[in-house]
Amino acid sequence: MKKNILITGATGYIGSHGVVAFEQAWYKVVMLDNFSNSSMKSLDGIEKILWYSPDFFEVDLRDKTALEKVFQEYNFDWVIHFAWLKSVAESCTQALKYFDNNVVGSMILFELMDKHSVKNIVFSSSATVYDAENTLPLTEQASVWNTSNPYGTTKFLLEKILEDLSKKSWFNVINLRYFNPIGAHSSWYIWENPKWIPNNLLPFIIKTIAGELPELKVFGNDYNTLDGSWVRDYIDVVDLIDGHLKAYSRHAADSNSFEIYNLWVWNWVSVLEMISIAESVVGKKLNYSIWPRRDWDLGEVYCDPSKAKNILGWQAKTWVKQSIENSWKFYNKISEWNK
Ligand code: WQD
Repeated sequence: MKKNILITGATGYIGSHGVVAFEQAWYKVVMLDNFSNSSMKSLDGIEKILWYSPDFFEVDLRDKTALEKVFQEYNFDWVIHFAWLKSVAESCTQALKYFDNNVVGSMILFELMDKHSVKNIVFSSSATVYDAENTLPLTEQASVWNTSNPYGTTKFLLEKILEDLSKKSWFNVINLRYFNPIGAHSSWYIWENPKWIPNNLLPFIIKTIAGELPELKVFGNDYNTLDGSWVRDYIDVVDLIDGHLKAYSRHAADSNSFEIYNLWVWNWVSVLEMISIAESVVGKKLNYSIWPRRDWDLGEVYCDPSKAKNILGWQAKTWVKQSIENSWKFYNKISEWNK
């Protein structure tokens, strides 16, 4: 019999790719989302890829009564938790909103998991949990405490809570730390399609180059990098989800365990390089200007993904250009689709 998996944040960017991959790997997925930063279009995209639609509930995790009804209806084996507010910038100006949504919402989810004896969770964490003072590259043992923004703090707090739950309440936790997911499913039916003006670099580049937004602001060209703009490690979302599947398969039978993996690529690209690759993919110049650094932009962080390679046999394989091509194809497809 198929195992039941609850995916929170199922219509969001990473969640929608998770739904497709886990359904295609023969699990029965139940989707949950409050559409705070996604839309019904994701459900259409998922249906177009799968040819059917997994069960969906529009529920905010903080609505305990509504969430409990979902737990009563299904006998879940696992929860894969992607329901996050995820903008570092916004978390610096609206910290309480982030603590309420990310921490309070997750606590209600954990409480109901415990009540309904669902002890297995894949937790979508972040490299933002690592202290800035660590030596690079970061391994899973590097210290985590001095987070540099409230978004990272929410992930750090929840990691600690889950670690304690694994020791005291028999939770089985797979804790995956990643950074900048980009790209789109090769069907081009799902992608990062935020409701509002995007925060993240690639969706902003795509919408600007397409003429939907007037200009991209490049925040800082005086960093100590080759071209002065800040560098990140971009991971293709399909590779990232493959890491979730491999971690799940490896640890599905564990109990009372807390396993951490860095899902990283070594795909180092600067902001100006991203712009230039996007320009070559689209065949058009992007309108951008240089602005001062932002206080909250994270400094240099890169992780050592060898634990995931050695234990899970997982390695990201998609290069940035291919991810940008998929994002651009999705953008054009959805523009057609919306006509
Ligand atoms: C990338 C680079 C910006 C927008 C991300 C996620 C967050 C979390 C941590 C997982 C930076 C620059 C951006 C723009 C720019 N992920 N930039 N102009 O800040 O690395 O944070 O990682 O937990 O959810 O957001 O990602 O895409 O916002 O920025 O110059 O308009 O692009 O300064 O150097 P970031 P990002």
